[in-house]
Amino acid sequence: MQADFWHEMWESGVVGFHQKEINRFLRDFWPKLGLRGDEQVLVPLCGKTLDMLWIRDLGHDVIGVELSQKALDEFLQENNLAARPVPHDCFCGYELEQMTLLCGDFFSLTAEDCKAVGAVYDRAAIVALPPQMRLEYAQHLQRILPKGVPFLMVVMEYDQSSMAGPPFSVSEQEVRQLFGGFSSIEVVDQEVFERKGNRVVEKVLILRL
Ligand SMILES: C[S@@+](CC[C@H](N)C(=O)[O-])C[C@H]1O[C@@H](n2cnc3c(N)ncnc32)[C@H](O)[C@@H]1O
Repeated sequence: MQADFWHEMWESGVVGFHQKEINRFLRDFWPKLGLRGDEQVLVPLCGKTLDMLWIRDLGHDVIGVELSQKALDEFLQENNLAARPVPHDCFCGYELEQMTLLCGDFFSLTAEDCKAVGAVYDRAAIVALPPQMRLEYAQHLQRILPKGVPFLMVVMEYDQSSMAGPPFSVSEQEVRQLFGGFSSIEVVDQEVFERKGNRVVEKVLILRL
């Protein structure tokens, strides 16, 4: 999707993907990553997700990357968080206790920005992107992340011909193709639900290099 699509969505105030509760899959399966607890966690395409606060409360530093300034402003305001502007060449955004919120294009993120990242949380990020951008997203992540970084990723599979994205249908098989360099990709849970009369399978994956 082009940037305008997302900016218009945030301007409209209709952000159906935003969850008012911590994501269940995050709560249930984050421990499976086997982290120490002090790693820096990258949350690409973060929106204003409360999941960042949950991850931070575990002791992690969080880096969220989001196109929309409005999303980040709402995140701070709705959670009564004070922040200062982030000093960065390519992004605007905010710095606060144990959290950096970078406002700009995820594809401008560099290996230098990610040198301390120790885990990635992708919920509603890869599925927000159309096919060609998903390829670029996967390639970019694999280029900029330190080796060995585990991911918790939530994707959904449905008949794309019967419903348009976003969220797009991203199969487990596609993830295996896109992240082929990873030594293991494990499905740890799945849930089936209906959306606009279509069967949707949401899958929780753990990727390890
Ligand atoms: C479907 S939302 C998911 C947000 C969040 N992950 C959540 O679970 O609520 C996708 C978000 O990605 C942002 N986004 C889309 N393209 C982006 C890009 N190239 N760089 C940074 N953020 C982007 C959008 O503004 C939107 O907030």
